Amino acid sequence: MANVLVTGGAGFVGAHVCKALARAGHRPIAFDNLSRGQRTAVKSGPLEVSDVLDRAALTDALRRHKIEAVMHLAGLTVVHESVAEPARYYVNNVAGTIDVLAAMADAQVKSIVLSSSCTVYDDQASGALNEAASLAPASPYALSKLMIEGVTADAAAAHGFSWLALRYFNAAGADPDGELSEADVLKVRLIPNLLRAAARGGAPFRIQGDDYPTRDGTCIRDLVHVSDLAAAHVAALDRIASLPKVINLGSGRGYSVRETLDAVARVTGKSIATEVAPRRPGDVAVRIADATLATTALGWSPRRASIDDIVADAWASRRWDND
Ligand SMILES: NC(=O)c1ccc[n+]([C@@H]2O[C@H](COP(=O)([O-])OP(=O)(O)OC[C@H]3O[C@@H](n4cnc5c(N)ncnc54)[C@H](O)[C@@H]3O)[C@@H](O)[C@H]2O)c1
Repeated sequence: MANVLVTGGAGFVGAHVCKALARAGHRPIAFDNLSRGQRTAVKSGPLEVSDVLDRAALTDALRRHKIEAVMHLAGLTVVHESVAEPARYYVNNVAGTIDVLAAMADAQVKSIVLSSSCTVYDDQASGALNEAASLAPASPYALSKLMIEGVTADAAAAHGFSWLALRYFNAAGADPDGELSEADVLKVRLIPNLLRAAARGGAPFRIQGDDYPTRDGTCIRDLVHVSDLAAAHVAALDRIASLPKVINLGSGRGYSVRETLDAVARVTGKSIATEVAPRRPGDVAVRIADATLATTALGWSPRRASIDDIVADAWASRRWDND
């Protein structure tokens, strides 16, 4: 059993990581400034409401809770927002990570699992992407993720940390037990937005770009169930010192926006009016994972990989009455 500080623990993935850690007998402590996360998402342990840019608060939390490992998920995550506000993304994501690493050195905490992203890969690369695929981050968000891998590697070498960057593809779905909701935490994601449109009708759903070079013209993404992502963090904790430093987490299956719309219609039994809008800056046509290394190194493979399971879990967990 380990005491684990989960930065971003009130966010979508972080809340599920806290739950998975608690289930496995660990003690998660969420550390979140609630800029995007929700207090109500923190159900598996205490919450420290604070900012990763506050190094003293981090060091204090690490010492007070006798933390043995950090899972660093705090960050700003919206690609098109990062294109409009790059400095905000670099400060929050990169300087925030530097503070986490400095606090770990101060408090003698030696292990860190880092949330990285498939956006670090070259969008022109074809086929499923493994960890050796060429890197070409196409947005400030993506570059901030590559930069945090670099600063973590350097801090690890200097201070003797064990570290692992998990490059998630597109997290989706929600806790199959219905305890945690995808819709609770962020309102810019495709599936929650589609489910809201299915539930409420109203304005047509905007498909942002239908002229991509894909099978139906809309972007294709590898959707990975958030509970599967969370399970990988727990698996990593036990053997972090002996793992490769970078591991992809994806399902290996790609679904287009239109295919996701079809799945939402199937699961909810409701049709969704759509309209086509221009492409969003920073979006790429296709991204699919080769997650073989996650299987061989972590013993991980996604359990809820079908799009209907992912959509059904998100639909079952919906709670939008207070929107
Ligand atoms: N969701 C995905 O598909 C996906 C894919 C790849 C990588 N990631 C990464 O996973 C991590 C979690 O993403 P998510 O989808 O759960 O996003 P999220 O926005 O739901 O969670 C991020 C959390 O970090 C908190 N936070 C942000 N800045 C902070 C700061 N300075 N100090 C303290 N807390 C802060 C927010 O309040 C929020 O609760 C992020 O680092 C993201 O870049 C997510």
